[in-house]
Amino acid sequence: MEEEIRSDFLIIGSGIAGLSFALKVADFGEVVLVTKKEVVESNTNLAQGGIASVFGDTDSFDLHIQDTLTAGAGLCHPDVVAMVVKEGPKRIRELIELGVSFSLLKGEKTDGSAGVPVSFHLGQEGGHSRKRIVHAHDMTGQEVEQTLVRRVKNHPRIRLYENHIAVDLITVSTRMKRGIITTTHEDFCCGAYVLDRESTRVKTFSAKVTILATGGAGKVYLYTSNPDIATGDGIAMGYRAGATVANLEFVQFHPTCLFHPEAKNFLISEAVRGEGGVIVDATGRAFMRDYDPQKDLACRDVVARAIDTELKKTGQDCVFLDISHRSADFIRERFPNLYEKCLEFGIDMTRQPIPVVPAAHYICGGIVTDMEGRTDIQRLYAVGETACTGLHGANRLASNSLLEALVYAHNASCRAVQDLKEPDQPFPELPPWDPVGTTDSDERIVVSQNWDEIRRLMWNYVGIVRSDKRLARARRRIELIANEIQEYYWDFKVDADLIELRNIATVAELIIRSAMHRKESRGLHYNIAYPFQDDQRWKKDTLLRRPFLG
Ligand code: SIN
Repeated sequence: MEEEIRSDFLIIGSGIAGLSFALKVADFGEVVLVTKKEVVESNTNLAQGGIASVFGDTDSFDLHIQDTLTAGAGLCHPDVVAMVVKEGPKRIRELIELGVSFSLLKGEKTDGSAGVPVSFHLGQEGGHSRKRIVHAHDMTGQEVEQTLVRRVKNHPRIRLYENHIAVDLITVSTRMKRGIITTTHEDFCCGAYVLDRESTRVKTFSAKVTILATGGAGKVYLYTSNPDIATGDGIAMGYRAGATVANLEFVQFHPTCLFHPEAKNFLISEAVRGEGGVIVDATGRAFMRDYDPQKDLACRDVVARAIDTELKKTGQDCVFLDISHRSADFIRERFPNLYEKCLEFGIDMTRQPIPVVPAAHYICGGIVTDMEGRTDIQRLYAVGETACTGLHGANRLASNSLLEALVYAHNASCRAVQDLKEPDQPFPELPPWDPVGTTDSDERIVVSQNWDEIRRLMWNYVGIVRSDKRLARARRRIELIANEIQEYYWDFKVDADLIELRNIATVAELIIRSAMHRKESRGLHYNIAYPFQDDQRWKKDTLLRRPFLG
């Protein structure tokens, strides 16, 4: 009989959202945190830029709200934007209290113990009308992640399961299917089936409250700034369980990822442009002035599309980001990590321009939540990039993502603690995992072939610039691939590669369906057949929900 691991809170994912949530609820119940590789492997850990929040003398909540709404191109939910922006400074001070050390103006020191406001060195990024990016040099994510991980590892009520990858959520519907209950209830989540990668056994994790904090889905695309873990697991699992997802057509392509045959997923932070970096073509021409009055600091969708246009026009492989006009000392002090990494690839950014290309970076859509992180399945929360809260609309403003994750981890934790207090919450009886296939696959090639094909077709047909024809092709292909994966899934034992492949296929299909649905261009979604924004018909979220399959 396979073991069942019980907790009050089951958290899936170990980026800023999952870790902060864990620390906030651990005083109120038993916490289990599962993560599919080592705990620090997350998108958060790679975040360079920082956390956008209002600390500057000439800044205001209104300005940050307005910048977020402008970037979001009419689809942000204004009440959510106002709430997140106003909560930001409090949540950042909490990070300082936990020991996170941000870059300060010269001569200032962080007073971590008292959480006293400090004078941050504030960075600038595209779409922001003021300097407001709180950062730790160019390694903000790493500083935050490592501090939170230390705290989580030392907390007596948090059990950490590394190398455990969730397969599917367990909901009331699941139980109905297996005949354990027979009446119709509203769906609620009771935990998840999780594969232990070492023992290759699938274990049942049951919990009173389950939190999806699995991060993004960059690996759906061939080129991405995201780490290998970003396979959209939370979005796929949530959708399969019946949660509503929204706005998945809005995939953000970061304009400047390092272009080098040996560099994998290496981002050149937008903060470089914030400090005066300029994008130029192979002849040294600064072309952004032809596209937007904000030039290199225009919103990301504008910059990424401009680069895409230039590359198609000139047939070049990449453009260049040049900050060599700033002093070498400044560059080394402000961007120590970027400087070292570029040098490893033979590029001295203090003396020469950095070759860059756009790559998939962030998915603005996800599982729909309310302001407390609740999905439409009871006892299931989604926090961070996996969620669609209404903050980002059709395009996320730079450095608003860590902010959102922090604020929503807090809000969701307050609500989830209340859930525990509701009467009559015994642990439900859960069916053990039913191994779908019983034999090991003899055709591993199916996994690698489909993995490759999905990522390539998404890059070529569902990328920065889309057309009806390309989307229709993509849909035909993904449907065939999804059927093949489904067959394979039922025939053979699950393993981590198959779980991730199934998830990227699900998310790819959802992105394509959402993109086909929206007959206009807005924010990050640009379709040459409908090059204009059509507020009369399309100023609304794209919602998708899986039909109840009984
Ligand atoms: C960057 O440093 O350019 C990334 C920041 C972000 O994605 O918000």
